[in-house]
Amino acid sequence: MAKPNIAIKDIESALKFRRAMKSFDVSKKINEEDIKLILEAIRLTPTSYGFEPFNVIVAQDTDFRKKLEKAAGVNAARFTASHLLIFTAKTGEELTRKDGHIDHMLRDVAYMNAVVRTGYKTFWKKWAKTDFKIFGDNEKLHQWAARQAYIALGFAMMTAAERGIDSCAMEGFSIDKLAEILEELKLIDREKDLPVVMLALGYGNKEPHSQTRRDINEIIKYC
Ligand SMILES: Cc1cc2nc3c(=O)[nH]c(=O)nc-3n(C[C@H](O)[C@H](O)[C@H](O)COP(=O)(O)O)c2cc1C
Repeated sequence: MAKPNIAIKDIESALKFRRAMKSFDVSKKINEEDIKLILEAIRLTPTSYGFEPFNVIVAQDTDFRKKLEKAAGVNAARFTASHLLIFTAKTGEELTRKDGHIDHMLRDVAYMNAVVRTGYKTFWKKWAKTDFKIFGDNEKLHQWAARQAYIALGFAMMTAAERGIDSCAMEGFSIDKLAEILEELKLIDREKDLPVVMLALGYGNKEPHSQTRRDINEIIKYC
């Protein structure tokens, strides 16, 4: 595969263009090619152990969006965006149960045979128990899955910016209320998946809010 060589100025331009867009033009829709590209960026996102412990719901139906707004009142102005993505992450129970998400990934996606699967799962368990100290604690396992979803969130926002598409990540919602709505509509089973973050995508109709950043020397340490 050809090595990409995107010009530094083009990458900088996308990085600077990406701002948290607070208000979207309801009449401007993202074209099919661009939305496919953003969803593909999510699919190709790297995840720890390659477990891909998240899913995405694309919320396009107007009535569905109205329901969602009830769980995310502070973000109502973002709900006119062309596309609205809800990232869900696997629960700890679903990740680790027999024939749960990890077993599914190893068996049906990575096509490992039973022996290799057992070895890989044992290796992961040891790491999760001793190194990251998340095994045996379902909330920590879920938050670990959520961290993987946030990598996908970043990939999606960057890809959108590269195509001149505005975005706003959103944590301003009630997880309980949103999960209830999603479960009512049979979009999730709360035992297995829970919403962790949303992403509005489209074209802004106002100037973005002012942006602040720490000095690079406060963030980065060399040694
Ligand atoms: C994970 C995450 C959650 C966020 N949640 C919200 C939100 O609920 N509502 C909102 O208006 N902005 C939200 N933001 C946007 C941030 O406020 C914004 O990214 C930050 O102030 C930096 O500004 P910039 O994105 O324009 O650089 C969120 C951003 C991230 C990354």
